Amino acid sequence: MDVTPQRRLRGWSFAIVAAASAVAAASVSSPVNSVTPSGCTSIQDQPPIYSGIQYGAAIQGLLDNFLTNGGTAGCVDCHTHPASSASGHLDLTDGVSWAHLINVRSYDDLSLIYVVPNHPEQSLLFQKINCDTPGVGARMPYMFSPGTLGPDQQALIYDWIAEGAPVGITDGVFRNGFDIRGFNQ
Ligand code: HEC
Repeated sequence: MDVTPQRRLRGWSFAIVAAASAVAAASVSSPVNSVTPSGCTSIQDQPPIYSGIQYGAAIQGLLDNFLTNGGTAGCVDCHTHPASSASGHLDLTDGVSWAHLINVRSYDDLSLIYVVPNHPEQSLLFQKINCDTPGVGARMPYMFSPGTLGPDQQALIYDWIAEGAPVGITDGVFRNGFDIRGFNQ
């Protein structure tokens, strides 16, 4: 095959463009959904909780048992310890869940992050419990067993992430004005 210098040059310029766009892609800090979430529940009517959400009591409490009728069913039933044997390779058990969520990339889609502090709308954890079609995989609890989370429970996770997803107690959040709460508004 006759490879002219001009062709070589063109090949190089393609390589440089490709390298430049790879650098640009790597420098993007916000996750980009390969799938736009859809079928999301509106939580607009839920009274916002601006402060004081305790990770252990409220968020881990919900991961441990999300039923409000006296029964017991938790995310931890499937998202067990250790992560290697947990559904979705995600261990949500008490004591380790926070570290497995905050700024951690999804096992199933490396472009997605479970919890982006202050950005519930970018957080896969929120999408998974708020939308029938999240950024990747199915809505949680898996197979809606025994049902989707209530709007108040979804809002709790939203508000906790909006407050910065602290592991302790928070002092406040300024959400009015930038909050759209959900993807369908
Ligand atoms: C009946 C089992 C089951 C229950 C209960 C369950 N999950 Fe899942 N979860 C799965 C399976 C299976 C997957 C992987 C497939 C998928 O993402 O659809 C998964 C995936 C996930 C992922 C994405 C993992 C990744 O790396 O992409 C998140 C986040 C998640 N679940 C959160 C939750 C939360 C929060 C709850 C509780 C409200 C919950 N799950 C309850 C089985 C379950």
